[in-house]
Amino acid sequence: MDKRTTNINELETIKQQKIIEELKELYKAEEERKGKKKTYHIVTFGCQMNSRDSEKISGILKQIGYVETDTEEADFVLYNTCTVRENANNKVYGHLGFAKKLKEKNPDMLIALCGCMMQEPEAVENIKKRYRFVDIIFGTHNIFKLAELLQTRLLSNRMVIDLWKDTDMIVEDLPSDRKFSFKAGVNIMYGCNNFCSYCIVPYVRGRERSRSPEDIIAEIKALAADGVVEIMLLGQNVNSYGKNLTNPISFAQLLKEVEKIDGIERIRFMTSHPKDLSQELIDVMKDSTKICRHLHLPLQSGSTRLLKIMNRRYTKESYLDLVERIRTAIPDISLTTDIIVGFPGETEEDFKETMDVVSKAGYESAFTFLYSKRTGTPAAAMENQVEETVAKERFDRLLKLVQECSAKAAGREEHTIQKVLVEEVNTQDSTLLTGRLSNNLLVHFKGEESLIGTIAEVYLEESKGFYYMGRLQEQ
Ligand code: SAH
Ligand code: SF4
Ligand code: F3S
Repeated sequence: MDKRTTNINELETIKQQKIIEELKELYKAEEERKGKKKTYHIVTFGCQMNSRDSEKISGILKQIGYVETDTEEADFVLYNTCTVRENANNKVYGHLGFAKKLKEKNPDMLIALCGCMMQEPEAVENIKKRYRFVDIIFGTHNIFKLAELLQTRLLSNRMVIDLWKDTDMIVEDLPSDRKFSFKAGVNIMYGCNNFCSYCIVPYVRGRERSRSPEDIIAEIKALAADGVVEIMLLGQNVNSYGKNLTNPISFAQLLKEVEKIDGIERIRFMTSHPKDLSQELIDVMKDSTKICRHLHLPLQSGSTRLLKIMNRRYTKESYLDLVERIRTAIPDISLTTDIIVGFPGETEEDFKETMDVVSKAGYESAFTFLYSKRTGTPAAAMENQVEETVAKERFDRLLKLVQECSAKAAGREEHTIQKVLVEEVNTQDSTLLTGRLSNNLLVHFKGEESLIGTIAEVYLEESKGFYYMGRLQEQ
């Protein structure tokens, strides 16, 4: 990013902070009149990008003077939407039906829609026509403007819509809230340039933009000083991080810098595209004491023929070779993946290739998805769409195999002592704590609540498949 862009971004931060201050005054006066603070609630759909964006939204609203509440019966409800598959959209419309009823009871209630689905003009047209009670619509590129949009809505009393097609802006230094005190997500890049032929993300999240390593490191240092011990570096394809910066830097080099930060004990990242996963990264992971033993490596399909049409730019063989190199270098790594079933033109032979990779790669777990046609993507225009019954039948076969593989991989750490980040009191049994292993599996064990946010040594007594039961070791 050049100097000029940096200055524009800084000016934008100052402008938004000024509006936040103005709204703060307004809300304070109203709070004094009514004797209570205004409440907000965010419903977040989709991936970690959206979760992180919701923390930013939350940060802005808290500064204005809102307090968070855990139901949609709030003064301000925001739906941070996802559109990666059709059912993600359907969920949003379901919630809007409910919100309409709430607003009939409380006409002062504000409703906002934001996130990936709002970057699709057809979806916005539909909202404008059929959901007139929505107050604010914004997208993925202008979250930092929320205070301004809210102010406009309060002054104008009509639906405020602000959507940007794309952006090269990265506005830093605005408030942000954290869901957990001890772990945090950190965006290292935004957008995606890969255009996998089935995927809507590049259209709704824009072109790939990497944050500068200085900004990232400064943010992580501040988080560490604030008690954060685990960070998750976020991007749609973290392996291509830094390639377009004025001073290019590789993702592996960035990881080395993050590793040096005192107080950070664990580093995770999401997501790795197999085509860009370098030997340098494998070597850095191997030598690291902080990078977690977990790699999410989306396969999508095991058929080289389909991978080509999907525009994934790797083959079945190169993927399996990569898995082999990772497992050899880091034997205790846990591999997980994403797979799509029923991509246009998928034949029984193609599907069998996918099944073959699953049995060979030995995934700890896999997310399986039925292909969903996304308007505007190249795959949506392909003629040979797979019949639903065929896709569903394949999906069930794949799920069965995935479950068998998970069961085989489960329990590898049974009867060992492992480091566990203690995350919460168990939701079902309050005498237990729940923590996470380096490989992302959960473990439940007896212990004091004061351990939450610390890294404890736990003996893994029994594997239960997707989790362990453990015993806390004397500290
Ligand atoms: N950037 C990540 C994926 C982000 S989307 C990557 O490249 O791996 C998360 C997952 O949703 C994808 O890995 C894919 O498996 C799935 N997905 C994306 N588009 C889809 C579609 N049209 N139908 C079904 N699944 C889809
Ligand atoms: Fe979608 Fe492919 Fe980008 Fe992942 S890499 S977000 S699947 S286009
Ligand atoms: Fe969904 Fe947007 Fe993430 S479409 S998967 S929330 S980037």
